[in-house]
Amino acid sequence: MKTLHVDLGSRSYPIFIGSGLLGKPEYLAPYIKAKQVMLVSNTTVAPLYLDKTLAALADFQTASVILPDGEEYKNLQVLNQIFDELLTQRFDRRATLIALGGGVVGDMTGFAAACYQRGVPFIQIPTTLLAQVDSSVGGKTGVNHPLGKNMIGAFHQPQCVLCDTDTLNTLEDRQFSAGLAEVIKYGLLGDAEFFAWLEQNAAQLVARDPHALAYAIERSCQDKADVVAKDELEADMRALLNLGHTFGHAIETGMGYGVCLHGEAIGIGMYLAAELSRQQGWLTQEAVKRIDNILQAMRLPNRIPPQVTVDKLLQLMQVDKKVRDGQVRLVLLKALGNAFLTSDYSATALREVLLNGYA
Ligand code: NAD
Ligand code: GLY
Repeated sequence: MKTLHVDLGSRSYPIFIGSGLLGKPEYLAPYIKAKQVMLVSNTTVAPLYLDKTLAALADFQTASVILPDGEEYKNLQVLNQIFDELLTQRFDRRATLIALGGGVVGDMTGFAAACYQRGVPFIQIPTTLLAQVDSSVGGKTGVNHPLGKNMIGAFHQPQCVLCDTDTLNTLEDRQFSAGLAEVIKYGLLGDAEFFAWLEQNAAQLVARDPHALAYAIERSCQDKADVVAKDELEADMRALLNLGHTFGHAIETGMGYGVCLHGEAIGIGMYLAAELSRQQGWLTQEAVKRIDNILQAMRLPNRIPPQVTVDKLLQLMQVDKKVRDGQVRLVLLKALGNAFLTSDYSATALREVLLNGYA
């Protein structure tokens, strides 16, 4: 078992990573301040892990709300189901919410916690690889809007993050690979040594080798915790965690939420960011090839799906939280492990990269 820390002064919290942690009260109880606990999960994860989680909460007054499963349900209307349950059960402002699921459940539960009675504590129990390496850490919470991904939300840090790596045993291969996209992201944006390690260990990761997987989760969480500690509210460097996201979110929204998985879209987006960086003269062809190769090694799609047009993508890329004064700022690469945020790229080159970005 490994414990990492997100260092945010009075809002600091631990990330517990290991096998067999779910069901052990010691990783939850100390982070719950009052009796009432609302567990939020979904129709896929609850039958697998809700009872085990409840068993660790025997000393508390628990209730649960089970959301429909899917990115297409990550919206304000479904969020209301959590508030309905909290109010029906008369939960007060000392209640704790617990997210048990992937990034969708985590983002929605965190946002419900940020809003309910102007803010209550919450805990993240991420059960997908993507959520264990990325979305459960850092306090970004929210829901999608039909016009833009994650456009409605709040920063709200959890009390603790509990990653039981055993839960990944039930994850489908496609979802597992989607999580690996966010792992690759950490190597690319600021950790070249980790990128090289990922290249060497791609086969072990895809085969879910427990040692390789534990190392990848720990290193990703540590990289993210370091960035979040320096720039919690994304004044500057946290934006680098959005490598591939302006492209990726446009692909997700353009295709309809839930068709292309978030991690898959981010993988394609990282390839497009690399290719634009090459066109601008910042990245070598060899580096782009290495990115393309690692996406393939992790069994991720690496080209734009045919269902979404270049014009649609360019239009959707305008709806991004990094847009400033109408300028779309992109995270691009100067080298493997060296990302930067810029609006200083050619619009013609961007269109060309998108046009050539299909299979
Ligand atoms: P997800 O939450 O939709 O989970 C993927 C699928 O796996 C779902 O069908 C889910 O029910 C299922 N599942 C979850 N755990 C399982 C398990 N242990 N066994 C079997 N099935 C399981 O998707 P995700 O990839 O976890 O998260 C994507 C979401 O995270 C997106 O909405 C994205 O915007 C968000 N995100 C947020 C942040 C952040 O910083 N807050 C960062 C990255 C991504
Ligand atoms: N996933 C981007 C962030 O947490 O900032």
